[in-house]
Amino acid sequence: MSNPTETAARRLDALPRVSLGVFPTPIHRLDRISEYLNADIYVKRDDMTGLGLGGNKTRKLEFLLADAIKRGCQIVFTTGGAQSNHAMLTAAACNRLGLEPILILKRRGVTEDLGNRFLESLMGTEVRYMDTDDYNNIYREMDVTGSASGKKYYIIPCGGSNALGTLGYVDCAREIASQGARFGHIVLAEGSGGTMAGMALGAKLFLPETRVHGMMVDTDPFDEITPRLMREAAALLGADISVTRDDFTLLDMCGPGYAVPSEEGNAAVRLMAEREGIFLDPVYTGKAFAGLIRMAREGLFKPGEKVLFIHTGGAGGLFAVR
Ligand SMILES: Cc1ncc(COP(=O)(O)O)c(C=O)c1O
Repeated sequence: MSNPTETAARRLDALPRVSLGVFPTPIHRLDRISEYLNADIYVKRDDMTGLGLGGNKTRKLEFLLADAIKRGCQIVFTTGGAQSNHAMLTAAACNRLGLEPILILKRRGVTEDLGNRFLESLMGTEVRYMDTDDYNNIYREMDVTGSASGKKYYIIPCGGSNALGTLGYVDCAREIASQGARFGHIVLAEGSGGTMAGMALGAKLFLPETRVHGMMVDTDPFDEITPRLMREAAALLGADISVTRDDFTLLDMCGPGYAVPSEEGNAAVRLMAEREGIFLDPVYTGKAFAGLIRMAREGLFKPGEKVLFIHTGGAGGLFAVR
């Protein structure tokens, strides 16, 4: 029988991939936060992935845009809320690769020329809004626009969270394993699911001693989305591995709503800035780090266990807070 870890590693290396980021990203201890929480807390600096303002989407886009190029596409569509970090980074990556990004965003969140919207203006990105709450309407509009253009086009779903995008964080787990330290827990934000699913699958394959905790910052059914994406990504890798709901834990950190800052999240943003000089954001990483703080206070980390927080970026959102 083939070893799923070896099979997955071979497939990860064999899949088409474009280089967009600077890897490995550093891992370091948060000394003053560790002291404050009486725990052993580390951070993986995926806010320093090296494209735009950094962030998790760089890893997904290395696989997704390689697929777009392989298929001969010139136009790349993606979507999200008005301040989507994913949409902004997709535009940055397309600019880098000479592809033509078109963002069709939901008209929700801060639509003024602030934060990620400002960065998109700076990059000359074509941005349109749709008044809809259903992404399927946006995907249909992408097909209409793409077909009318006469060019080949590629659609990246919201957050880049399909099986191929998910591989970015399977590979991140492998990267963590190669960096040496062993962690009892990994904590990260879950928004559309791909980052968490990739990390949870990647931990099963490459970090078997680590428990992965997804901090939900939206209200989607992540207990279904996460294992589905894990299974689809495992199938892409040809890894014969069973996935169950017990492979990961979830914590609801959404607070008053997706993209609506919470008091607990804002306190975490401030704590990290004041104690470590690191900037989190109010929509994803602030709420996720607030979840880590809650877990530490509830005594969920045992003495001696190292905890790794994945800083998934999002700095653009800090400049769009009303
Ligand atoms: C800064 C940041 N962190 C975390 C996430 C969550 O990642 P995912 O959408 O893969 O769940 C996002 C998603 O947009 C993000 O922008």
